Amino acid sequence: MPRKILVTNALPYANGDIHLGHLVGYIQGDIWVRFQRMRGNTVHYVCADDTHGTPIMLRAEREGITPEALIARVHGEHLRDFTDFGVAFDNYHSTHSPENRAYAEDIYAKLKAAQLIDTRAIEQFYDPVKEMFLPDRFIKGECPKCGAADQYGDNCEVCGAAYAPTELKNPYSAVSGAKPVLKSSEHYFFRLSDERAVRFLREWTRGANAAGTRRLQAEAANKMKEWLGEEGENKLSDWDISRDAPYFGFEIPGAPGKYFYVWLDAPIGYLASFRNLAEKRGDIPVEDFTDAARAQAAGTEMVHFIGKDILYFHALFWPAMLEFAGYRTPTQLCVNGFLTVDGAKMSKSRGTFITARSYIEQGLNPEWLRYYFAAKSNGSMEDVDLSLDDLIAKVNSDLVGKFVNIASRCAGFIAKRFEGRLGASDPKATAEFESAFEAATIAQAYEERDYGRALREIMRLADLANQYVNDHKPWELAKQEGQDARLLTVCSTALTLFRDLALYLKPVLPALAAKVEAFLAIEPMTWRDAWKPLPAGHVVQAYQHLMTRVERKQIDALLEANRESLAPAAPASDAKAAATHSQQRHAEKQQHAAQAAEGAPAHISIDDFAKVELRIAKIVAAEHVEGADKLIRLQLDIGEERPRQVFAGIKSAYDPATLVGRLTVMVANLAPRKMKFGMSEGMVLAASDETGVVGGLYILSPDSGAAPGMRVK
Ligand code: 2FM
Ligand code: ZN
Repeated sequence: MPRKILVTNALPYANGDIHLGHLVGYIQGDIWVRFQRMRGNTVHYVCADDTHGTPIMLRAEREGITPEALIARVHGEHLRDFTDFGVAFDNYHSTHSPENRAYAEDIYAKLKAAQLIDTRAIEQFYDPVKEMFLPDRFIKGECPKCGAADQYGDNCEVCGAAYAPTELKNPYSAVSGAKPVLKSSEHYFFRLSDERAVRFLREWTRGANAAGTRRLQAEAANKMKEWLGEEGENKLSDWDISRDAPYFGFEIPGAPGKYFYVWLDAPIGYLASFRNLAEKRGDIPVEDFTDAARAQAAGTEMVHFIGKDILYFHALFWPAMLEFAGYRTPTQLCVNGFLTVDGAKMSKSRGTFITARSYIEQGLNPEWLRYYFAAKSNGSMEDVDLSLDDLIAKVNSDLVGKFVNIASRCAGFIAKRFEGRLGASDPKATAEFESAFEAATIAQAYEERDYGRALREIMRLADLANQYVNDHKPWELAKQEGQDARLLTVCSTALTLFRDLALYLKPVLPALAAKVEAFLAIEPMTWRDAWKPLPAGHVVQAYQHLMTRVERKQIDALLEANRESLAPAAPASDAKAAATHSQQRHAEKQQHAAQAAEGAPAHISIDDFAKVELRIAKIVAAEHVEGADKLIRLQLDIGEERPRQVFAGIKSAYDPATLVGRLTVMVANLAPRKMKFGMSEGMVLAASDETGVVGGLYILSPDSGAAPGMRVK
């Protein structure tokens, strides 16, 4: 019986680019789907953008567009990236969709009816200027443990401590710079701590899919044990599923001003995308995949490909929500690790934070990456390392050197000497190959997502096929009298072997496989075609080159295209920030550390530069700051309603009185910063030598004619 499987990949947030780190999981999912289809199973493969939440709302605001416009634009970009990498969803939808709202409301209502929703008041930081509650990531301050400045509300990047945002010293809002206040508000909770949920999750953890593969990989099952505790224990806490307005999301029915937290409706987006697909198609029985009883009766499966960072959501909240709302629960979670590049975390300054778009734009073949990621995947949650030299070596040796080589050495003779018409394959040779080779091993390895094992087996076969060609030397047969029949048999046999290799590689390399199908003039290959020799008399097309080698210079260009420096190159004496707020110092420290680690400072793009809003400012007031030995308090007119207050570290060089009335240049879009002496709302620029003191400090002046508020670019 063919299996019926709904497969999903994690929904990417609608406010960022797809990068190679994302692609690990998407490529793994896509390979699995293609494999299942080649086996004759029915698969619906869906994804969507994850569109809700505060970061998306604020990003749209910063760009001066509506969240709807932002998510529409990003949707197009994401879909194009996936398509270009051969990740072929049947539907790419959005969590901001009517289907998702309907499912979210239904699931919520059912959980409520099952007494699994609670409300209680909680105290949270609130930004009085922006008039909104602040998620942890939007609160910054000094680390309560080590005192490092400008740390996020949940953990310190300097000492690694984890804490609650309320523990930060001198907290400020990363949105407005204001000091946040604690404010109470009513929140909605999903009662995950309920005994029923704990009992269900223990049971659910133990399941398997229809092929007998365990529901959770060993590492994930261990995590579950840790989270659920011993039998009889209950370590789960209730889950806060509401957020207060302003919020971009779905308002909770019957709770004005309260919204579903983005993570509540994100996984529901899997179902929404699937329903949307079913509505477009008209022939998919949706409930067979979504309703608990119907799914059980129909024997359908639901398989989620996710990254290890979101296991908690998918292994605890998600199955429990579904179970107690009467929906079908996930059959299997396929969890992948993170991507490292050349053994290190992806880095913007090294150029290893590589976007999907740049890879395509640099003209690299997406199937090189698909092959490499597959070769490095073993079905576990381990991190995957992209070693760039290894990618070059593997692609060139396996795909070009071994696989493509078989066809390129034989196809010409078939075309030139036999008008493209194949002869019979040598039955003895094909039988030998078949017995030397475990087709079942390959299928099993694909099923278990141990693609590395599948490819190793396939390359072993490629070695045997090349050996066959080497042993029979068609190029010599071609020169000998009376060897035509032999030549035809050898080349036809080699092309049958080549077809088999292409078939086994097809889940990983769909575009290459399609070229092979066109060259061999055959129907799309499925698993059933394996080891069926191409028939005598079959006419193949002229051979076109199938894949080029990867060159190191292409990889170098890719790194260069992705390199972002943290600051412009710093010649001996340059215009440099004289403002002294600690945020700045912190950034500088990081920048110097990064540059020291990497040698020469790198370039920035024009887009990076454009992020800095420089404006002509008129100094309308300047005064010493009581208790500060370096600072002057400036009031700067940049054509706004009221002047900006900026603290500049230029006391050693200027008498405040001489500054009043002058024009200078300021950074106008620096996040406002609360300092000991008051709010600093920007920064003025000044030139100095490396020491910042010995050679003096010089603020900038524009040529005459410049007026306050003019943009400097
Ligand atoms: O971590 C993330 O990128 C989330 N946007 C993944 C959501 S997966 C699913 F639950 F929607
Ligand atoms: Zn710290």
